[in-house]
Amino acid sequence: LGGASVGWAAGVGASAAQEAGSDTSSAASAPPGPASPPVGDRTVPASGPHQAGVATPPQAFLSLVGLDLLPGVGRADLVRLMRLVTDDIDRLSRGLGALADTEPELAAHPARLSVTVGLGPRIFTDIVPGAPGAVRPLPAFPIDRLEEAWGQTDLALQICADDPLTLAHARRVLTKDARTFVRVRWVQEGFRRAVGVEPDGTSMRNVMGQVDGTGNPTEADADFADLVWSTEPGFVGGTTMIVRRIRARMDAWDKVDRVGREAAVGRRLDTGAPLTGTREFDPPDFEAKDSFGFPVIDPASHLARAHSSDPTQRFLRRPYNYVVPDADAASGEDAGLVFIAFAADAERQFVPVQRRLADLDRLNQWITPIGSAVYAVPPGAGDGDFLAASLLD
Ligand code: HEM
Repeated sequence: LGGASVGWAAGVGASAAQEAGSDTSSAASAPPGPASPPVGDRTVPASGPHQAGVATPPQAFLSLVGLDLLPGVGRADLVRLMRLVTDDIDRLSRGLGALADTEPELAAHPARLSVTVGLGPRIFTDIVPGAPGAVRPLPAFPIDRLEEAWGQTDLALQICADDPLTLAHARRVLTKDARTFVRVRWVQEGFRRAVGVEPDGTSMRNVMGQVDGTGNPTEADADFADLVWSTEPGFVGGTTMIVRRIRARMDAWDKVDRVGREAAVGRRLDTGAPLTGTREFDPPDFEAKDSFGFPVIDPASHLARAHSSDPTQRFLRRPYNYVVPDADAASGEDAGLVFIAFAADAERQFVPVQRRLADLDRLNQWITPIGSAVYAVPPGAGDGDFLAASLLD
């Protein structure tokens, strides 16, 4: 944790605790950490075999931008757009303003900015038919109540950073530079805990209060690369990004007690441990029975239904919470997850799991998918190259 953010966090903690009348003098007066750079100075390299923002430990804030190509935009324009975007991402990720940036000072603290570029199915039918990495639209699922406003777009920019101002600036620069070729259809904002609130690497909490991310593959797993990175010639190191905007009916969830909430997921709310274990990463025991002979983890729970016995039907989840004020909703808000997942092959790895959950999942009483899209995420740009060059050149 950076010195500046330690100072800031300690200050906030001190005033809150002073109001509560407790002694925080040691925390408040702790000197900032000596060598670690401020959170704002942290960077995520933009170039390499893979795009950033996939295996990157999730930043605190998300701005996912869905863009459609303007009429008449063709392959040569898309190449120009990708050159522009690649250059912007490279500069912004290093804390430099983009070319002709009117507010370069806002880029000065990259705060682990990453920008992940995705290409929607239409690119592979209308612009570069037969290009490697092609994605097809996801099938319809019976639980879907899709709203046109959150539908499939031609392109997506997944912009993530640990600072919301850095993020807003990056989004503005990228969409400004791209507007000769595209128009923004939607922006999906999301958040996790702010940096420093919990130790780095802690599984996130979603708006429903659950520990979320425990069962994810990690880069330390032997099969991580197979699950996430494509080996298709011309697309090696790319991946597929699945976006599902999932509304959670918080007013209905409010009526469920802890026992019901834990049963619906199959994990404890406090630690995230499976109902058959005591610690977060204890493996779930789907065979265990209680004293009445009933399974401890309900076979209809989200955990039991999402868990795959087929090790290839796994993928990386990288979701963000969303909460948008909504005066018309009983709860006063529209909340849920911008559920983002990455898989080397979405149809083989993701679709069977989503089908299973659509057939039966106790969580479905409270959650509804309202947006759905899929994107090919080309490999990272090598030095001097531009993103998606292997598809467009
Ligand atoms: C696990 C919540 C949507 C796939 C979990 C867990 C929670 C959770 C609390 C247990 C902890 C963990 O491993 O992360 C939610 C919520 C959702 C949602 C609140 C929607 C609002 C989805 C969707 C999919 C999915 C759409 C895929 C189609 C999984 C998988 C696991 C999981 C694969 C891990 C299962 C295992 O341990 O093997 N989810 N989830 N979830 N979820 Fe979800």
